[in-house]
Amino acid sequence: MSDEHVLLLGPPGAGKGTQSKRLAAEFDLEHVTTGDALRANKHVETEHGTPASFMDAGELVPDPVVNEIVKTALEDADGYVLDGYPRNLSQVEYLDSVTDLDYVFYLAVPEDELVNRLTGRRVCPDCGANYHVEFNQPAEEGVCDECGADLVQRDDDTEETVRERLRVYHENTEPVVEHYREKGTLVEVEGEGTPDDVFERIASEVRD
Ligand code: AP5
Ligand code: MG
Ligand code: ZN
Repeated sequence: MSDEHVLLLGPPGAGKGTQSKRLAAEFDLEHVTTGDALRANKHVETEHGTPASFMDAGELVPDPVVNEIVKTALEDADGYVLDGYPRNLSQVEYLDSVTDLDYVFYLAVPEDELVNRLTGRRVCPDCGANYHVEFNQPAEEGVCDECGADLVQRDDDTEETVRERLRVYHENTEPVVEHYREKGTLVEVEGEGTPDDVFERIASEVRD
């Protein structure tokens, strides 16, 4: 396993999950994603409530819950690609206290394209693979190419919740992007084009 520390930032639907999975495979990195970790524990009661009560409304899960997930995941990882965290400035501060970063990528995609991507997304409940009814179809409709499971729609991919996730992104996570831009470490990547095109743009920076 290599030891690069890669962060992928971007709005909901920018392709963070799609690209993180590829980067993890290509560069032998651990894929650390708070979204998937929270979905796997959606109905677990914490002192702050269940993750589901926040996620299905499009709101952020409280910082102590996600900080703990990230801390544990990074302890076990040598190199990693981090997806879905940090999402506000207090999470940035926490991340700085537990690790350092080699690459910070920002996937730029226009807002109307994000809504189309999210409302048409289908996911595999068993292996986590991502598809899209139009842009990224599996070989057989509704069936995962990787493992054969029936694909489902994420609970938070309804148009109404997508709009709220975008609002929360503008309010809380855009300042995170600005933070890394001001630090001079942000690499902005054009997030439109095919997933292969976008992957090549990111991978070429990491291979250098
Ligand atoms: P999370 O799971 O992280 O969701 P998100 O940030 O809203 O992002 P998505 O996973 O929806 O999009 P993505 O960028 O991964 O895009 P994807 O590759 O799937 O978080 C969910 C919730 O968990 C949050 O709302 C919050 O409640 C909670 N949470 C998570 N982290 C948290 C944190 N740190 N703090 C607090 N709360 C937290 O692609 C999208 C679609 O587009 C797919 O269908 C895909 O096939 C398609 N696609 C991908 N690339 C392309 C392309 N190039 N062209 C065309 N289509 C494409
Ligand atoms: Mg994702
Ligand atoms: Zn699958």
